[in-house]
Amino acid sequence: MKITKFLAAAALAAAAMAACQAASAKALVLYYSQLGPQKAADAHPSQDMGNTQYLAYAIKDAVDADIFRVENAVPYEDNGYKALTEVAKKERQTNVRPTMKGSLPDLSQYDTVYIGGPVWWSDYPMVFYTMLDRYDFAGKTLVAFNTNGGSGPGVMVSTLKRAEPNARVLDDCLDISSSKSKQSNESVKTWLNAHSLLNK
Ligand SMILES: Cc1cc2nc3c(=O)[nH]c(=O)nc-3n(C[C@H](O)[C@H](O)[C@H](O)COP(=O)(O)O)c2cc1C
Repeated sequence: MKITKFLAAAALAAAAMAACQAASAKALVLYYSQLGPQKAADAHPSQDMGNTQYLAYAIKDAVDADIFRVENAVPYEDNGYKALTEVAKKERQTNVRPTMKGSLPDLSQYDTVYIGGPVWWSDYPMVFYTMLDRYDFAGKTLVAFNTNGGSGPGVMVSTLKRAEPNARVLDDCLDISSSKSKQSNESVKTWLNAHSLLNK
């Protein structure tokens, strides 16, 4: 009888520990930013960051997440904004998968992944398709975020849903216009709170 009680207590303790570990799983912020320093300050967004980079760090700070910058292995040539829009348009039309630089951290340690980029032709830059093809986000909560020049989030949420059918993709996208991105800390917190993502 005593042994049975002991085993039951041990099982309860193990279950409580597992629940605690699940609750404390970390969040990860994945972002692309065309502008902004390669090595951003570890936290605390600064004004010389790229627009999406700033937003990514504001999320990182708000939810105490890890952060990873998604980059092309071969950076785009610096021929100005207009030329880049043309290159990006062609990439979208031809549905290319630019090689991604490096590898994502081990995803098993994260339950929520924030995936953000600048809106490029109404969608993520194509390197995100490379990433979504390569990695499996099944079972995770995915939260889209972006900065844009005024068009809004475009098709980002449906891109995530299509690529990751076994993830829980939030229907809403944290959407900040480029002109407001570097004053976005408070609106980021408000948005995260409204979606029950703060203090998870
Ligand atoms: C290739 C390219 C395509 C873009 N397409 C759009 C678009 O479809 N809609 C929009 O509102 N802004 C568009 N923009 C503007 C960017 O989304 C905006 O400037 C963004 O904040 C840049 O973020 P970053 O500094 O992190 O790179 C585009 C910019 C580039 C370079």
